[in-house]
Amino acid sequence: MNVILLGPPGAGKGTQAKRLEKRHNLIQLSTGDMLRAAVASGSELGKKAKSLMDAGHLVPDDLMISLIADRIDQPDCADGFILDGFPRTTAQAEALDEMLAEKGMKLHSVIEMKVEDEILVDRITGRYTCANCGAGYHDSFQRPKVAGVCDACGGTEFKRRADDTAETVRTRLATYHAQTAPILPYYQGKGILKAVDGMAGIDQVTDQIERVLGAA
Ligand code: AP5
Ligand code: MG
Repeated sequence: MNVILLGPPGAGKGTQAKRLEKRHNLIQLSTGDMLRAAVASGSELGKKAKSLMDAGHLVPDDLMISLIADRIDQPDCADGFILDGFPRTTAQAEALDEMLAEKGMKLHSVIEMKVEDEILVDRITGRYTCANCGAGYHDSFQRPKVAGVCDACGGTEFKRRADDTAETVRTRLATYHAQTAPILPYYQGKGILKAVDGMAGIDQVTDQIERVLGAA
């Protein structure tokens, strides 16, 4: 099963992708995480991407398409993947179709996570992750069971993303509406687009996604 989670910054793509990964034995392909790893490693890609990401702009299509094409070629993707953060432009959506067709693979579902802009700013500015295992938390909505200790690995160091400022979130939202939302009709036309209410609680969103996948 190959699935796309599509939605604005803070919609819950990463949160839900991690749950799907475990339940369905799929691989999460987060282009944002791949780019952050490239920035941390100081690679050429990371150097090109850093200032664009920090400003809330998209990284050029050619770089993103070759990044995801190389990743989908890895054997672990053969049993299914969840795309989180890709495609983000019409050019990326068309390139994805081409690369899947070449491999005899297809997309089963594109799940749009609908959330109003006003609450996304709170979600993003309150987000943090475990520095050791990457588990995601939120100051109000998703706290660790024991304050300051990661539920998943017991780690006690946490970090916040450089682009998770109130100002950059507004640019990221504008970028989403201008460049990414226009690909929704592309998938609507293929009959594989389903929407879920991303404003619901985290567990309720998971239930909605499971229902969509069960029907796919
Ligand atoms: P990326 O890392 O993909 O960021 P994004 O799309 O802005 O999305 P986020 O990761 O911020 O949000 P999310 O939907 O994963 O939400 P999360 O689950 O964490 O991309 C970063 C940058 O990289 C881009 O701006 C761009 O520069 C570049 N880039 C990446 N891909 C690219 C591409 N294909 N082309 C070009 N450039 C690209 O949830 C957010 C918070 O809310 C968490 O704290 C969570 O605990 C909480 N939360 C989640 N769900 C709920 C809920 N239902 N109720 C309450 N709280 C919730
Ligand atoms: Mg994410």
